[in-house]
Amino acid sequence: MAETNDGLFREPEMGLTGRPLRKIPTPASIDSHGPATVIAMCNQKGGVGKTTSTINMGAALAEYGRRVLLVDLDPQGALSAGLGIQHEDLDTTVYNLLVDRDATLEDALHHTAIDNLDVIPANIDLSAAEIQLVNEVGREQALARALRPVMKDYDYIIVDCQPSLGLLTVNALCCSDGVIIPMECTYFSLRGLALLHDTVDKVKDRLNFRLEVIGILVTLFDRRTNHSRQVMNRVVEVFGDRVFDTVITRTVRFPETTVAGEPITSWAPASEGARQYRDLAAEVIERT
Ligand SMILES: Nc1ncnc2c1ncn2[C@@H]1O[C@H](COP(=O)(O)OP(=O)(O)OP(=O)(O)O)[C@@H](O)[C@H]1O
Ligand SMILES: [Mg+2]
Repeated sequence: MAETNDGLFREPEMGLTGRPLRKIPTPASIDSHGPATVIAMCNQKGGVGKTTSTINMGAALAEYGRRVLLVDLDPQGALSAGLGIQHEDLDTTVYNLLVDRDATLEDALHHTAIDNLDVIPANIDLSAAEIQLVNEVGREQALARALRPVMKDYDYIIVDCQPSLGLLTVNALCCSDGVIIPMECTYFSLRGLALLHDTVDKVKDRLNFRLEVIGILVTLFDRRTNHSRQVMNRVVEVFGDRVFDTVITRTVRFPETTVAGEPITSWAPASEGARQYRDLAAEVIERT
């Protein structure tokens, strides 16, 4: 219990995690940049908010003065589309960087309308990459090799993974310092997390000893249902402090931003969703 100004003791205010609400410190500004911390946004379950979180956490980190590069590693190209990039007809995308040694990163790199926020887009070409890479030497390291020239230029590189644990996702895990696992706040979402942790452990053991789980991000939380609260209790019970204090609630504003082709932090800067992703960015800075 906390003592208040009037000398009375009151129960601390609770956050959506069910833990006491914590004031997340505002990140200090920085005056030099790089080398990048690489983060994989990863969950083999579809529709859990990986792409939404990559775009909006990336934009919030950029607002805090961090130089951010987002990498679309999903042939659907939702990250690229969500940032307003006409990705279907691009000649050079992340696909070329993975399979063609002569492709240059400058050709694949796009600046967005947001200061400090760049992106390497993807399109359906990427769906051929897994098959093409499979017989290559160092097939798990293709993305790490492609990103090496720009590591010094960015503070954060965030890789938006496709909903699978295949070779593309393993490439993301191989070049990452940490994983953020967005999970939809429903009972069935808990099921796949053991397999995902197992994959992260294997990659850490065999290919990338730096790899850590930075945090579990609960998304699509519905304030109106007991189900959301029950699932949240279970998630905190299982994963403890690895669960971010920041919880992303369900709101129609996110689907709207996809149509607008820009992050919620610029499209609706005062909205609750924008505030939540700023809090998440602050927590990520605190943890990395
Ligand atoms: N907090 C939220 N509230 C409401 N809708 C959301 C929220 N977050 C994401 N969405 C919507 O849910 C859908 C899935 O989100 P998103 O594309 O980010 O998930 P994903 O994990 O990247 O999916 P996939 O596995 O297909 O790549 C999208 O239509 C998105 O706009
Ligand atoms: Mg996605």
